[in-house]
Amino acid sequence: MALEGFGLGLRPQHFPDILGDDPDATAGVDWFEIISENFINVGGPPLRNMMLVRERFPMVMHGVSLSIGSTDPLDMDYLAGLKALADLVEPELISDHLCWTGVHGLNMHDLLPLPMTEETVEHVAGRVRQVQDYLGRQFMLENASTYVTFEEDEMTEWAFLSAICERADCNILLDVNNIYVSGFNHGFSTDAYLNGVPAECIKQIHLAGHEHNGDYIVDTHDEPVPDYVLALYEKAIDRFGMVPTMIERDANIPPFAELVRELQGVRRIVEERRTMVLA
Ligand SMILES: [Fe+2]
Repeated sequence: MALEGFGLGLRPQHFPDILGDDPDATAGVDWFEIISENFINVGGPPLRNMMLVRERFPMVMHGVSLSIGSTDPLDMDYLAGLKALADLVEPELISDHLCWTGVHGLNMHDLLPLPMTEETVEHVAGRVRQVQDYLGRQFMLENASTYVTFEEDEMTEWAFLSAICERADCNILLDVNNIYVSGFNHGFSTDAYLNGVPAECIKQIHLAGHEHNGDYIVDTHDEPVPDYVLALYEKAIDRFGMVPTMIERDANIPPFAELVRELQGVRRIVEERRTMVLA
């Protein structure tokens, strides 16, 4: 069955709420997303608790270390760990970012931007195909927030993302917050972005908050999703239809009930749009 509805990023401090006796605690949460690296080659209580959540909810896996854009060979140890975790979790979807995180074996733990050129499209698409062949399933790439561009860029970010997905036959995890952040930082049209990516490839949406510094934005995931990102999300669902959507919160993490309330607000937005379309 395909993934549907609304999800949250699974964070360890919320295990007691999710696994507790109150069924209303997770009302309106249809699925969870795990950070793959938190559970690769990990055992003990974290893995046990995650699998208890998995028994009750569909799950998706989201990685941060694949470094699909790097010129290093793909890290086969990492991929073996990812595959073993996927065999265990049986996620509905698996994703990582369209970025590079290091070279010469170094992991900078940052999602670094790529020169958007035909050469990079070819390079990344070939590596995505390798990943998909190894995992035996389709993969999703997420648009990352960026702060610099390259003089060598030959195309827009949406053309770059679309070309890779077409050539690799992979899907897209569209982060609407990241479109807003990068659009603000680089001055591109977020509407053009939404119109420029292939609707049939969008299988999941991320929403998040960020740090707005007036003339630039840092993608911090430490705040509720701001209204202007939700406004862009409305445009996204008008174009793509209802795509499984979740809130990412990675810092300044609030009580679980607060995130559930925020997610219910996102659901209301979608339901209101649907009512408007039907009226
Ligand atoms: Fe994201």
